[in-house]
Amino acid sequence: MLGAVAAQGVVALCMAWPGTLTAQEGPGLGVELTVEQIAAWDINVAPDGAGLPPGSGNARQGAEVFAVKCIACHSTDGEGGLNDPLVGGHGSLNGPEPLRTVGSYWPYAPTVFDYIRRAMPYALPQSLTDDETYALTAYVLQLNGIIGEDDVMDAASLPLVEMPNRDGFILAWPPTEER
Ligand code: HEC
Repeated sequence: MLGAVAAQGVVALCMAWPGTLTAQEGPGLGVELTVEQIAAWDINVAPDGAGLPPGSGNARQGAEVFAVKCIACHSTDGEGGLNDPLVGGHGSLNGPEPLRTVGSYWPYAPTVFDYIRRAMPYALPQSLTDDETYALTAYVLQLNGIIGEDDVMDAASLPLVEMPNRDGFILAWPPTEER
């Protein structure tokens, strides 16, 4: 019975397929991307800062952008309102009510840049300039007491920021003798 249902599925799939193609022809989908198109898509920033773009910003500049583009969801000073708090929770991770924020939980600063550039503001992801993203990253770090108001964040300085929870993660790989 099951076999018959599966076979019907295969028949239906074949009927929907628009013509038979040889391996040489290929499906004929898509066009070759330009270098610019690939660069726009390839926005990964690694924890060690690899991939950080040119540009810079500090927390003062970030505060101005935050007031316009972020405050509605993350509230004043990033304390959280409609959505996640970005600040606080320091030292809470081992307690009964762990509060995981950028400040208390995230182990690497360049990842904060990656996340903000990629995903925020929630309704308009990837609309921020790189300078705005550096400034916002600086602001969130400064709100957490990790850097100062005038510390400039760029591709050189951001990877040097030591996040409080940098050593709070246990590496699952490579396996150690003890485990
Ligand atoms: C419309 C609401 C909204 C706006 C505006 C917004 N965010 Fe968010 N933000 C969210 C939501 C929702 C999440 C959680 C997303 C998830 O977990 O997938 C989030 C998560 C985050 C996080 C990760 C928090 C964590 O620890 O997991 C950061 C950092 C962040 N936002 C920064 C910003 C910045 C900077 C801006 C302004 C450019 C911004 N957000 C604007 C809704 C918003």
